[in-house]
Amino acid sequence: MVPARYLSFTTALLFIWTVAVRAGQSGKFVLINHTPYEWAQVSSTDDQMDSWSFPSVIPAGAVQTVNVEWDEADFDKQAESGAEVVYALMGTPNSFQLQARAPSSGFTLQALLHNIATVGNPQGSTINLGWNTNGTTAFVLAGKEGEFASSNPPTNWMQSSLSTIGSRQLRSIAMPGSHDAGMSVITGKTAFVDADDVLTQTGSIASQLTFGSRYFDIRPVIASGVFKTGHYSDISIVGWQGADGQAISDIINEINAFTASNAELIVLNLSHDLNTDSGYGALTQTDWNNLLQQLTGINHLFVAPNPTSVDLTSMTLGQFIGNGQAAVLVITQPSGSISLGSFATQGFYTYSQYNAYNSYSDTDSLSTMVSDQINKMKTVRTSPTSQLFLLSWTLTQGAGDIIDGTSILDLANEADSALSSDFSGAYTSTTFPNILYIDNFASSDATALAMAVNANT
Ligand SMILES: *[C@@H]1O[C@H](CO)[C@@H](O)[C@H](O)[C@H]1NC(C)=O
Ligand SMILES: *[C@@H]1O[C@H](CO)[C@@H](O)[C@H](O)[C@H]1NC(C)=O
Repeated sequence: MVPARYLSFTTALLFIWTVAVRAGQSGKFVLINHTPYEWAQVSSTDDQMDSWSFPSVIPAGAVQTVNVEWDEADFDKQAESGAEVVYALMGTPNSFQLQARAPSSGFTLQALLHNIATVGNPQGSTINLGWNTNGTTAFVLAGKEGEFASSNPPTNWMQSSLSTIGSRQLRSIAMPGSHDAGMSVITGKTAFVDADDVLTQTGSIASQLTFGSRYFDIRPVIASGVFKTGHYSDISIVGWQGADGQAISDIINEINAFTASNAELIVLNLSHDLNTDSGYGALTQTDWNNLLQQLTGINHLFVAPNPTSVDLTSMTLGQFIGNGQAAVLVITQPSGSISLGSFATQGFYTYSQYNAYNSYSDTDSLSTMVSDQINKMKTVRTSPTSQLFLLSWTLTQGAGDIIDGTSILDLANEADSALSSDFSGAYTSTTFPNILYIDNFASSDATALAMAVNANT
């Protein structure tokens, strides 16, 4: 028997530990009003919150950050923790309620659409926004009455918003994309790298598609005779280092499974080709022919009218998927000089036919990347029909990060959570990106923002 005295001492310690560890989890709640209506606070109640103080008015177009902190000292009543705030969209019959809840599984922020419907979210439904301790949780609402877009977009978000964006050229539409999209697993690697330095994603192409990504950076390599995705760099002294990710065959199967039930437009951009079996040289013409032949296994490859001369960015979204069928474009940017041959009339294009401005910031500093990318966007996108612009919202590991163990995915999470706070206030109806390009595409937040961009233009 353990002495009772000892037990109560342990209980007391546990109590102190629990209070200390669980006290006042806090984070930022970013509210993005990209509707043309002012949001006026109707009511606010809070029970057991240390911080739950919302502005009385959130102007049209504004992004507001609210600090949220749970009062957990009273942890016995945790299940009752909660708070609400109601906003009305002035001049419309619409309103919604934001809620803080602490179910047994933890904390969550949510939006109850009691008097509003958004694309994919019927009136009366509740959107779970999640919760990030010390981080950012966002709620975005954009567009006009009858065609609102919000957080929690539907899986087939393009098809669901065709009535608004179907008649627009691709260069006048925003979509989210995945950097180094195949690198969610390591299926082979060199001696001097580990997961921290090669993984850019946590979910497969299938999972990224489900979260809404539609543009995929695919880097084909030959590894032990098989086409895979890879992530390699030539490092002085040690030579080529890196790893292989998802196999091309798996990616084909995942795209086909997705397009079988989602009539969406998907763009694959093939670059950084490398033969790891023979000296890390570029793929030869024969290798490319074999790769493209394998890729003809993708269903719904889209063959444009005048396929060898068409500028895909000036075609409308409706021309690709308006018939209720998915469309897949494969853009090629070979390292060497390669001819597409007969593949040019089978859904494969040269990069000049989908000419994206794409210039990454090559920094691990969030503030440097944010100002660099936003400046580039303002320079390139002076009108809604300017050259296609890829917002490279990614951070790059420096030598210091590799030494102190900051992984690519750590940096990705920092950049991804800054989309709501730092990107959402920076675009306008005339100056906006076409591809919101991120690492770790593991939520639908970037998709909701792309839809907000589209609803705002
Ligand atoms: C949040 O920040 C506090 C204060 O810096 C720290 O003690 C705590 O461990 C952090 N929690 C998480 C989950 O990161
Ligand atoms: C394809 O990817 C390469 C490498 O990231 C990039 O330089 C190029 O701009 C991309 N092309 C298109 C058409 O997106």
